[in-house]
Amino acid sequence: MTAVTMDKVTKTYPNGVTAVADLDLEVADGEFLVLVGPSGCGKSTALRMVAGLESITSGELRIGERVVNDLPPKERDIAMVFQNYALYPHMTVEQNIGFALKLARLPKDEIRQRVRNAARVLQLEEWLHRKPGQLSGGQRQRVAMGRAIVRDPSVFLMDEPLSNLDAKLRAQTRAEIAGLQRQLGTTTIYVTHDQIEAMTMGDRVAVMREGRLQQIDEPEVLYSEPANLFVAAFIGSPSMNLLEGTVAVDPGGGNGAGGGATISLGEQSLALPASVLAERPGLRAFDGRKVVVGVRPEYLGDATLGEHEAPPDGARLRGDVELREALGSELLVHVRTNCRPAVTDEVRSVAGEYDAAGVELLERQAAGEGAMIIARFDARSRARVGDVAEMDVDVERLQFFDPDTGDRIAGEVPTAPATAQPAPESEPA
Ligand SMILES: Nc1ncnc2c1ncn2[C@@H]1O[C@H](COP(=O)(O)OP(=O)(O)O)[C@@H](O)[C@H]1O
Ligand SMILES: [Mg+2]
Repeated sequence: MTAVTMDKVTKTYPNGVTAVADLDLEVADGEFLVLVGPSGCGKSTALRMVAGLESITSGELRIGERVVNDLPPKERDIAMVFQNYALYPHMTVEQNIGFALKLARLPKDEIRQRVRNAARVLQLEEWLHRKPGQLSGGQRQRVAMGRAIVRDPSVFLMDEPLSNLDAKLRAQTRAEIAGLQRQLGTTTIYVTHDQIEAMTMGDRVAVMREGRLQQIDEPEVLYSEPANLFVAAFIGSPSMNLLEGTVAVDPGGGNGAGGGATISLGEQSLALPASVLAERPGLRAFDGRKVVVGVRPEYLGDATLGEHEAPPDGARLRGDVELREALGSELLVHVRTNCRPAVTDEVRSVAGEYDAAGVELLERQAAGEGAMIIARFDARSRARVGDVAEMDVDVERLQFFDPDTGDRIAGEVPTAPATAQPAPESEPA
């Protein structure tokens, strides 16, 4: 069953800003769906429309079978947890958690029972008679959760509920919330700008950019098959390395059979075996044209260790090691290459998201400094700052994107569907 459905939902504020455009979303019963994207992309607006705190300009919103576009918040059977979960300072934890039930005039015994249950689930039993001021940040956050849980809603809506916690507590609390949601089985829509939070918590993750849905899928699929450059750049840490390349399909490859391709990256190049081209036939249409080549740090290995078994000839990149981060379990090396980084609007918007200097850095690399690539080497690697790093590239795992549209170049051969286009009669059988 579908718990929440958004059908071409659009929100244009009175000042003319379209915060959410044509959003299609189906949240399954009991699912934990995360909405993620850079700040200002429309996440809170989308959530507030589900809550009924913001009117819908066009489209249809359903909770269960019911169209709720014009239903007031309190009739929607939802509970929301905000970033600023203001607790009533003069009330005890017990009173804070039970407040909404008291307003709803539930019998005292029932309120008591429900609050006790919530407190047990949240491990707040010992603190029921304390005031919020006597609690830690994490405990206050759990009280805010408790206020939502006692109402036993059909849907939880959470808007960046962890952003007031420090990093360590945030990591712990996100595991707690995900565990709690599984235990309660309540459909949840969770908003965050933090892609790690999204990837670790969500059954599925919906990525938004500038009011539009980019991709919705399981975390693993977003990671391994990003629909476009924005998702590719946004998901993953360290992020995917994105380089500008030019495709040359080997001559004599024929109609899809045999033959590989060469991706030229300025003075370096990567040879793609036929298998790679067979997996991504769409790449053939880019013969002689520019593409964006994406490679995740873990698919670059220290060549001196032979990390990627028997790389085909020419599947190597090299550059100067400028920085090494030994994480114990692995080694992150920042390698200055003479390749050009891909600089598109999508890449720019991700580069500028966390670091104002990010875009400038990228542009300097494109203007001649050369792309900085991050590789995740095995911990046994001896790579040192100042060394030339030879990196084996796992070419089977490369991703390719159309620099004009930003779309991933994947399986489909770009032709019209067979049903729509009968074969020309002149075509020999
Ligand atoms: N009440 C409002 N009036 C006008 N514009 C708004 C209002 N609320 C949000 N916006 C704009 O809508 C866009 C999306 O905002 P929001 O949904 O808060 O994004 P997010 O939660 O992803 O950061 C932004 O451009 C923001 O400035
Ligand atoms: Mg927001």
